[in-house]
Amino acid sequence: MTAHIIDGNAIAAEVRREVATGVTSLLAAGGEQPGLAVVLVGNDPASHVYVANKVRQTDTVGMRSFRYDLPADVSERDLLSLIGRLNADDAIHGILVQFPLPQHIDSRRVVATINPEKDVDGFNPLNVGRVATGMMDVLTPCTPLGVMRLIRSVHDDIAGLGALVIGASNVVGRPMAQLLLEAQCTVSIAHIRTTDLAARCRQADILVVATGVPDLIRGADVKPGATVIDVGITRVDQPSGKSRLVGDVIFDEAVKVAGAITPVPGGVGPMTIACLMANTLSAARAAAA
Ligand code: GUN
Repeated sequence: MTAHIIDGNAIAAEVRREVATGVTSLLAAGGEQPGLAVVLVGNDPASHVYVANKVRQTDTVGMRSFRYDLPADVSERDLLSLIGRLNADDAIHGILVQFPLPQHIDSRRVVATINPEKDVDGFNPLNVGRVATGMMDVLTPCTPLGVMRLIRSVHDDIAGLGALVIGASNVVGRPMAQLLLEAQCTVSIAHIRTTDLAARCRQADILVVATGVPDLIRGADVKPGATVIDVGITRVDQPSGKSRLVGDVIFDEAVKVAGAITPVPGGVGPMTIACLMANTLSAARAAAA
């Protein structure tokens, strides 16, 4: 048996089309054009690529983008003061500060300063608490939101299924577990220190792997017919001198065992920015209500 390969590029395009239609309806109803502020601190090359993509896609779906490039040595006070101005600006409905931030800046203080109603990353403690208490019509972290959409593309109902999330980060693992719990899965959270990881994987109907450890999960670790979502994306050098992107799951093995699986690249990756667009539209709709 070969698994159904979940096409993240196609599903992300579907989400962007829905957002573009939503923007048109909002404008037709007299609402304001949604605006997203993207703040980039320093020169991390990967962050530059992500931010350029976020800005481009914001424009593509008919929203306004506002990009702020700050030097790596910007003071925390100046960054917080910019966020204060963005919080007060009615043309801006979403604020995203790209991570990682330089060491001298306290990331927790930064996310706590973003107005929760403009927190399109869903990282502000108020939004984290809302999701943890089962409030689902709130701004929710983009990658887990995207993963749920991918899972729902192959399952009508996941209530009662066993889900294992590997990785306990604030950006993916923890909110992912909350969303699966809210969908009435029986959820476990594991991480790279978990003992008997392979045996636990083999029990999971839905396996979400988000560790950043390439090739952590083998085909033999996957329950036959399971849905496997690979959030990991790591660039590795090859003997040929070229590099390639790999996930946390050995795809060529797992595809022979799983019922459905996401590839890397082209699985979860495209969903994150598409869901950022959806969150920005949600924030703009809430501001117009
Ligand atoms: N850096 C890597 N992923 C993310 C994300 O989802 N949001 C932000 N703000 N920074 C990131």
